[in-house]
Amino acid sequence: MNIQSRGDKKAAKAAVSQITGGRRLRRNRADDWSRRMVREARLSADDLIWPVFLTDGDNVEEAVPSMPGVMRYSIDRVAAIAEQAVELGIPAIALFPNTDPELRDDLGSEALNPQNLVCRACRALKAAGTDIGILTDVALDPYTAHGHDGILAGETILNDESVARLVEQALLQSDAGASVIAPSDMMDGRVGAIREALETNGFEHVRIMAYSAKYASAFYGPFRDAVGTNTTLIGDKRTYQMDPANGAEALAEAELDIAEGADMIMVKPGLPYLDIIWRLKQAFDVPTFAYQVSGEYAMIEAAAANGWIDGERAMVESLLAFRRAGADGVLTYFAPRVARMLKDGRL
Ligand code: PBG
Repeated sequence: MNIQSRGDKKAAKAAVSQITGGRRLRRNRADDWSRRMVREARLSADDLIWPVFLTDGDNVEEAVPSMPGVMRYSIDRVAAIAEQAVELGIPAIALFPNTDPELRDDLGSEALNPQNLVCRACRALKAAGTDIGILTDVALDPYTAHGHDGILAGETILNDESVARLVEQALLQSDAGASVIAPSDMMDGRVGAIREALETNGFEHVRIMAYSAKYASAFYGPFRDAVGTNTTLIGDKRTYQMDPANGAEALAEAELDIAEGADMIMVKPGLPYLDIIWRLKQAFDVPTFAYQVSGEYAMIEAAAANGWIDGERAMVESLLAFRRAGADGVLTYFAPRVARMLKDGRL
């Protein structure tokens, strides 16, 4: 039926009305006010967790080349960053250390040093009295000479021996003032072991956000630049991080983490795994987070810098996607930027 060529507007309208039964979905899209009225997912600063990189020194603020706009900060700068987060309405920051290469050894001993970057940052934040959630990553990779999250024996990452050290690390971080322990190591049984240790050592109020479904992903590259593990990592992490091909396995991981005592679960990376976020939220309906990782951030920034996409719109669209998929919040390097837009009423 070529209604246009007939030049008969009335007939065209009648035809579309008949096809749609009068249900024209474009009506609600026609004006800004009605688009706002029917909008399903919204962003709020409450949904954001800001990952912050730490480095040695005084008054240091150094750029991470593969993550334009992202800095590493020395400990004396961290309280000001937290203040900024509070001012923007961001509820929590996540700390990641760029450990001096000299301090990295086979067992990741620096992870158990109460004076390491993360513990010092926690104490600085506590001393400043900032009312903000402090997430700390539990894994050995920024501290090991081989760049793995656990203890390496030959070519194997030892599970149970690694868990024992991760428990120590979690206790130290809690003692320094961490409010959310985020195990990112993917060892079996680590959430239960950490939960039990927290309970029996007076840290029963410390939450656990489990990296439940953490995939062996190519999207972590820029992060590894930021924490200096790109040069240390021997081989890859496929024997403990998940196979990108698997979905049902993510349900099994999350089920165990929840049973073992996780208060919140997380999926990582983010956009390539929206289906996993959706499935976990539908299956368990517990607080579920996404980590929009360094590579996702870098791709948007790189394309925007080339003028190939509108970076700001891509940022907002990607964050909305997480909300639409059911995520309760997102760890994202865009956190301060999007929170500023929200605060200024530009969203
Ligand atoms: C370390 C850790 C990684 C990230 C968070 N914690 C990297 C890795 O597993 O190699 C990645 C975050 C990002 O890419 O933004 N256990």
